[in-house]
Amino acid sequence: MTKKIRVFSGIQPTGKLHVGNYTGALSTWVAQQDNFEGIYCVVDLHALTIPENVVPAKLNEKVWKAVSIYLAAGLDPKKSDIFIQSMVPEHSELAWILNCVTPMGWLNRMTQFKAKSANRENVGTGLFTYPTLMAADILLYDAEKVPAGDDQKQHIELTRDIAERFNTMFGKVFTIPEPMIGKAGARIMGLDDPSKKMSKSVGEVTLYHSIGIVDEPDLIAKSIKKAKTDLGPVVVYDAAGEGVRNLLNIYQAVTKETDDQVKEKFEGKGYGFLKKEVTEAVCEVLAPVRQRYLALMEDRAYLKSVVNKGAEHAHLLASKKVSQVRDALGISFSSPNLEKAFFLRKELLSKTR
Ligand code: TYM
Repeated sequence: MTKKIRVFSGIQPTGKLHVGNYTGALSTWVAQQDNFEGIYCVVDLHALTIPENVVPAKLNEKVWKAVSIYLAAGLDPKKSDIFIQSMVPEHSELAWILNCVTPMGWLNRMTQFKAKSANRENVGTGLFTYPTLMAADILLYDAEKVPAGDDQKQHIELTRDIAERFNTMFGKVFTIPEPMIGKAGARIMGLDDPSKKMSKSVGEVTLYHSIGIVDEPDLIAKSIKKAKTDLGPVVVYDAAGEGVRNLLNIYQAVTKETDDQVKEKFEGKGYGFLKKEVTEAVCEVLAPVRQRYLALMEDRAYLKSVVNKGAEHAHLLASKKVSQVRDALGISFSSPNLEKAFFLRKELLSKTR
């Protein structure tokens, strides 16, 4: 039997999860779950970096929605670990340690930080050090690949640099991960403005910006109908403008057809036909996801059992890695009393959640 590839990835439980999250990340996790040893979490600690996300009851609900979407999309908890980032405290611990080996200049270069901090008055340091928490997520589990959308490439490259720097300074502790970024679905643009990436936060407040993974089919149809296209009357595949290119990408990402098949199907056809076909293809994939999602949201006990199991395994792996890191740094101190306190905290948490 060939060895499975260890992969890690995650989605922030913010805004409205959309078809880009599906084609850029989730659908690959699901399609490859027999080949991957997958570790997938809902990255709630990352959500704390934007103050508007931190409305406690809403954030809690969004975490469970994201867990339900992972499962509804077809992730099988028997094949992959599914959990919530904050359940495994080693994510925060390693993030701190990595902050201490990451030059500020490296973080200054991150384009997502520039985009997210622009026009904000109060930018928290968490937003600035967001990529080191992401590096911790990946490095904790010796992930070899990170299946994600195109916008995460720079963060994954930074993770490699941080891991290499740590290994050079303190001995080989971390596996160097590689980005795994697909072609057609890795960068889906907004339907209302195809010059900008489809976004969870914009999609939550702007009707017809995005295609939500669990939107009603009627809304999906309307959103696609209103999508911006090009000026010309028909599809010219090789010279498609950004609106038509985006619809072709969405179509290709959900149907998995080849470039040639897509070109043949749409070349010279009107935008009405294109939109009808995109709607049908998207709804065929997403309508069953919505049905399963609605049922899963009614079964909180099951969702909890899934993340408990996932977190237990993740915690085992993560605590081994953090011990290695502590050894490498000369800070391997522990106390039996602290272990007791840790268990007490766990008990309290399970009562309040
Ligand atoms: P997030 O929550 O913004 O997005 C989740 C995943 O969806 C992909 N994605 C897209 N793909 C195609 N088109 C789009 N318009 C689009 N928008 C988002 C993202 O690339 C991502 O794969 N920092 C990450 C979460 C994270 C993470 C990690 C990912 C935290 N730790 C470790 C991988 C590994 C983020 O904010 O993703």
